[in-house]
Amino acid sequence: MEYLFAEGNGRVITGKDKLFGVNQLAKAAIKEHGKENVINASIGVLLDDDGNLIVLSSMIDVLKNMTPAEYAEYAPIAGTAEYLDVIKTITFGNHMPEGYIEACATPGGTGSIRNTISCYTKPGDSILTSNWHWSPYNVIATEIGRKVYTYQMFDDNDNFNFASFEGKINELLEVQDGVVIIFNAPAHNPTGYTPSNETWDEIIAILKRCAKPGKKITFFLDIAYIDFSGDSDKAREFLPKFGNLPANILTVVGFSASKGFTFYGLRTGAMLCVTSDAEIAAEFKRVTSFASRGSWSNSTRVGQIALAKVFNDEVLLAKVFEERKAYEDLLAARCKAFKEAADEAGLRTCPFNAGFFITIPCENEDAVNEELFKSNIFCIAIGGGIRVAISSITEEACRILPAKIAEAIKTING
Ligand SMILES: Cc1ncc(COP(=O)(O)O)c(C=O)c1O
Repeated sequence: MEYLFAEGNGRVITGKDKLFGVNQLAKAAIKEHGKENVINASIGVLLDDDGNLIVLSSMIDVLKNMTPAEYAEYAPIAGTAEYLDVIKTITFGNHMPEGYIEACATPGGTGSIRNTISCYTKPGDSILTSNWHWSPYNVIATEIGRKVYTYQMFDDNDNFNFASFEGKINELLEVQDGVVIIFNAPAHNPTGYTPSNETWDEIIAILKRCAKPGKKITFFLDIAYIDFSGDSDKAREFLPKFGNLPANILTVVGFSASKGFTFYGLRTGAMLCVTSDAEIAAEFKRVTSFASRGSWSNSTRVGQIALAKVFNDEVLLAKVFEERKAYEDLLAARCKAFKEAADEAGLRTCPFNAGFFITIPCENEDAVNEELFKSNIFCIAIGGGIRVAISSITEEACRILPAKIAEAIKTING
């Protein structure tokens, strides 16, 4: 990659946006063939069955009742006092891990990823994530001079690949003092996978084994989809497992209000540390504020104020949860329909149980995806597979798609 005036600094900046390109094709197909004849499973936001963005009206009511000073004023760098008061409850609910917990507001979950990498790695270090992952992890890491290393997420039996996970952590710890691991769960993007309780126990046992004296592990838990991964209280049950870990394992939880509270564009999030060491927690507070100041300065105030109002008012909170429950059910019904139809069509998918996305592993994914275009079906080809956003299609489309994808794979790969 050559640059004219800009400095590449190890970044691959193609300017091509796969998602945007596919979405344009889907829009053109809708124009030509009508909405009812097109399945656009490329969009990673929650849409209703008519293709409109779902926005929680209970959250919007709160926004509409704010005074200008509440939304227009600067927020403190680490977040407003009201937000920091409720963020632990928003994130952990009834399942607070034991240990020292500090928080810093960030612009969406993205900000928490950026700050974790910048604060807990050295320039040139590699961070670790699974082979299936949200592609912006690469952008965020390379933008600040870090690299991405991956482990195989599933073994041949489609179980979590503990051996690969442990092996790659150890490989990195041989050449680095520490490693930041980015782990997206529950309802992983792009597979929809959620570890079981036993799987979490083994993951934590591996972290403890790998964190030898003199080495440090930062386990970044990206919970962007936690409020759309089944019952939101149950989905948090695993969180206390991150309490009381050895001091050389730091857990950082990345909270995002984008999905759970439909605040996508309001850029509201937070990063929270869980550590058994008071000084590491105090340092977290200092370094994350500094990193924020040096990148986006303070985060958007309006989302912080809105969330604080909701979590300080039982009636409002019940309203938000009740409204969201209906959409959780809508998404769960789509997920179930896809699973049943995939079983019927004999379509092999990555293991999934919830969330916005499902992934179908296949060879020649670009050709398979283009084959689907011929049937007016629009998904996203990602390295090694096809990503279907069930968040943006109807339950009926979820029933149709698996057979169509199986057929396209057969046409291309035989
Ligand atoms: C896996 C994952 N992590 C984090 C995010 C962060 O989103 P935001 O910055 O909008 O909160 C997203 C958004 O799509 C995501 O898919």
